[in-house]
Amino acid sequence: MYIPEEKVSEILNASDIVDVISESVILKKSGRNFFGLCPFHSEKTPSFSVNAGKQIFHCFGCSAGGNVLSYVMKYHGTTFPEAAKMMARKYNITIETKEIDPAIKRQLHLKENLFRLNKIVMGTYFDELKNSKTGEIARQYLNDRGILDNTIELFRLGFSPDNWDTIVKVLKERKISKNIAVQSGLILERKQNNGYYDRFRNRIMFPIFDINMQVAGFGGRVMDDAMPKYMNSPETPVYNKSRILYGLHASKQFCRQEGLVYIVEGYFDFLSLYQHGIKNTVASLGTALTADHVRILKGYAPRMVLVFDSDTAGINAAKRSVKIFMNEGVDTRILVLPQGNDPDSYVVKHGQKAFNELALNAKTMMQFLLQVSIDAHGLSVEGRIRILEDMKKQLILIQDSALRSLYVKELAETLNIDEKAVLEKVREQYLSHPEKKSFLSEGKKQDAKLESDRREEQMISLMLNYPEIIDEIKDKEVLDYFYSEKLKCLARKILSMDPKKEAFITNVMAGMENTEDQELIASYAMDDFFSEQDIHQTALSIIHRIIRVRKKQENTLTTKIISAEKGCDSDLMDLLKQKQAEIQQLHDQL
Ligand code: CTP
Ligand code: MN
Repeated sequence: MYIPEEKVSEILNASDIVDVISESVILKKSGRNFFGLCPFHSEKTPSFSVNAGKQIFHCFGCSAGGNVLSYVMKYHGTTFPEAAKMMARKYNITIETKEIDPAIKRQLHLKENLFRLNKIVMGTYFDELKNSKTGEIARQYLNDRGILDNTIELFRLGFSPDNWDTIVKVLKERKISKNIAVQSGLILERKQNNGYYDRFRNRIMFPIFDINMQVAGFGGRVMDDAMPKYMNSPETPVYNKSRILYGLHASKQFCRQEGLVYIVEGYFDFLSLYQHGIKNTVASLGTALTADHVRILKGYAPRMVLVFDSDTAGINAAKRSVKIFMNEGVDTRILVLPQGNDPDSYVVKHGQKAFNELALNAKTMMQFLLQVSIDAHGLSVEGRIRILEDMKKQLILIQDSALRSLYVKELAETLNIDEKAVLEKVREQYLSHPEKKSFLSEGKKQDAKLESDRREEQMISLMLNYPEIIDEIKDKEVLDYFYSEKLKCLARKILSMDPKKEAFITNVMAGMENTEDQELIASYAMDDFFSEQDIHQTALSIIHRIIRVRKKQENTLTTKIISAEKGCDSDLMDLLKQKQAEIQQLHDQL
């Protein structure tokens, strides 16, 4: 660990896991825990739990788990020191950089420098737009497109002048290293190796903020018909296109409020809607939506509406996205705008009220796909057969069986085909489809557990939740009787911690080096169904059971082996030894 233990403890003590996770997951209290939709796997019903008292999270679906720092690392895809720094910043704790390992420090600094540089450049572009003489054309352009001054301020729009070196100069003045400047993608090296030039020239600039309000990258639009119409920053250590959504930093509170998010494609679509009071919106920036995007959005709104142009490109984009939304099990509607409109032009022409009314009639994903298929094939006999072929591929993607059967029914009615025949087609598809494996195996993840494991796990749950029994456990040397080497090892680590310390679980978690151990600790700590009154009694009875069962089993085996030896029954003896080895192996594997 590159940050001193005391610092980590300080951060863990200061932070509140419910507070931190609530920023990215919608949590609801239920009993002792908070529950929400897991941001780490696709699910429709919440199995992601957070416990405020223990300061841990655990997903009953995918087994992700840990403390607040493990969460930040996993959610934001950062290293441990970065997560620690993020939390330290949030809770006003200072971490001396000398406390951090040099290699890690370099990576940390790189990101910090890139953010800092982007912020400087955002300021330059903004200033050029607001105050420069050459910026007049850009001010006029935005004005013509109906973008208001306070939208420009709020989203820090800018202008990159028609020069090769505006940014090159700024970075030189600020003494920013060439290496960082190039990595940001804002300047490029000249071919003949004689200097650098600006990537963005003569464009309206859109800074792209990440969820923590830091500038991750930029997009730029020309002001005439030049090509390419839009240009974007390349991927950098701080700009991950598969995770960033334009505008979410500003719209997240409104998405929460409305329980709904509109997903549009473009910068202007977003800004126009926002300006017209439709603030629960994000833009995908024309790139394909990813599962990560959808999981991030799930943390802000349970319902989503994809808004697309009605041209072929728009319809195709919608078709591509549907698959992702279905896999993620999100309630998603598709709003195809009237011919010739995009969200921007529509809301400018017809206003907020008309947009909201249109949105109320957005189609479900199935209705949308069905409509697309009907438009393509028509409702002749051949057409309907083709539609059925199209739709069966979509229907098997629906994980919820009740929902699937409703759609089957709807499809049968629309096509005027017998429901059983439709169902048969879907089943055929299901069986011949390679993806069925993941469907079928889903329910079987929880293999039958060994009884011994269950007892040993209970022992660990008790140790974590009631550290006062730890002395007893040491006394009775119960770990020596564990069958599972893995659980024994974990229990040993727990025993090596000081049970008298405050926030025992948090400390145990911080002491675990690998994620797998952290996840196990979180799951056992969560698994606390003991009644607090007679913890001692419960502990004793589990301890005794563990010891008794092991002794008894070993006795029986030994007796049999001895008697077999006496009777010189070598076959039986081999069998018994083999059996014993097998049992041990089984326990060791787990
Ligand atoms: N886009 C891009 N590169 C392109 C074209 C588009 O990155 N060459 C992205 C931009 O984020 C753009 C979005 O895809 O905002 C949608 O593209 P498009 O529909 O072509 O543009 P509009 O947003 O409608 O732009 P405008 O209204 O300014 O013409
Ligand atoms: Mn447009």
